[in-house]
Amino acid sequence: MNLDRLRSEFPALESRPPPVYLDSACMSLVPRPVLEAMNGYYRNYPGCAGRSLHRFSEEVGRRYEAARAAFARFFGAPDPSGVVFLRNATEAINLVGQGWPWRRGDRVLISDQEHNSNLIVWQRLARERGLRIEVLALSEDGSFDAEDLERHLARNVRLVSLFHTSNLDGRTLPVREIAELAHDRGAQVLLDGCQAAPHEPVDLERIGADFYAISGHKMLGPTGTGVLVSRPSALERLRPLLLGGETVAWSTLTDHELRPSPYRFEAGLQNYAGVIGAHAALDFLARVGFEEIRAVEHSANARVTAAFEDEPRLHLLGPPEPERRSSIFAFSLDGVDPHDAALFLDEGHRVMVRSGMHCVHSFYERRGLPGNVRASFYLYNGRADADALVVGLTELLDRVPEHRVSGTSAATTRGTLRPASGRRRGAGSTRAAARSARPRRRAARGRAESAAGSG
Ligand SMILES: Cc1ncc(COP(=O)(O)O)c(C=O)c1O
Repeated sequence: MNLDRLRSEFPALESRPPPVYLDSACMSLVPRPVLEAMNGYYRNYPGCAGRSLHRFSEEVGRRYEAARAAFARFFGAPDPSGVVFLRNATEAINLVGQGWPWRRGDRVLISDQEHNSNLIVWQRLARERGLRIEVLALSEDGSFDAEDLERHLARNVRLVSLFHTSNLDGRTLPVREIAELAHDRGAQVLLDGCQAAPHEPVDLERIGADFYAISGHKMLGPTGTGVLVSRPSALERLRPLLLGGETVAWSTLTDHELRPSPYRFEAGLQNYAGVIGAHAALDFLARVGFEEIRAVEHSANARVTAAFEDEPRLHLLGPPEPERRSSIFAFSLDGVDPHDAALFLDEGHRVMVRSGMHCVHSFYERRGLPGNVRASFYLYNGRADADALVVGLTELLDRVPEHRVSGTSAATTRGTLRPASGRRRGAGSTRAAARSARPRRRAARGRAESAAGSG
């Protein structure tokens, strides 16, 4: 699909000059067919599935199950009964963690670069149910040490729970090899697919994973849509997180009988509009095709990487080659606070990036760093977006010597940088506007700092 035509499908890109949205690793933009599908639900058949016998209910039930079958096909799950609709990937990981039949002393293996969504749940289980956590140390350059994995697996590991692609630096783990080694040792495998599923075809059967957690809102779907795709036999072993309406086949005042999977895991009235929207998002991705998606985002990432290859003040996180960083360009700048950099780019250049710790506090805490900046590309980010980031960062770097105190403390620019006015892109944001926006933006930065950059 031609890029201009593709971009015209995203209402959030309509304003002129267009915003430069480089935060899709947090949440992707939503195309028109997804918005229409959600609206279609509320306008035309706003019922609840599986409860009433009228036509609205029948229609939503049909579409909800069609979405389940589509997710199973899209992710190579053996059967739609392995697909559970949830609120987000965090809930999917919690469902596996908290629903697993742990015995004291069992071990879960994670990496030292996991999102909080794949860390905190294990910490609580360790405290409350005697789970032991094995931590696999990942290399700085993205290489993977399979022997180290084998050493960890030899220690009564029952579940391996790793990201597929990192939200920090975009590296992708050799998940097929990992799953094979884990299964050889009798462990099952949960993959956090948040950053892989939007960018490459994922086939659960081929990878050999038992569970795969997905965020609908990172792959063109609406917020509040998460999916756990699993082998039905693996799902059967889990206890539901929540009980109530829809999860039971029968109940008396003293007992109940649970429904089969996946219904026992979907308690209460569901996010029908969201699931139907997420199905439309899958169709949209399939229409564009992952080959094209990869080509667009790789070209943007390569362009920005090449522009700063010889810049000694910009420190790239993760593998140096853009093709090994999926859609992510994450970096720190000598002497520039990451939140200042993000505000500078937004105010002066309409470039939206992410700053902070990206929900992986443990990574920065171990290195004594205040976080960094992350630009993440997706199928709508063409050459102009990459160039806008390059222009913005170049201007920022040009200004740093004026503000930098000796040394390279990342906090030295705090509150002192001013964008030149966004003139280069002819943005509506003028110097005065940027200044007048500052108190509000400072407050926003305070909030970002206290949340330490979630997502
Ligand atoms: C690698 C990774 N895991 C988990 C999550 C949490 O996803 P969700 O918001 O769907 O719970 C994110 C979100 O940023 C992520 O990047």
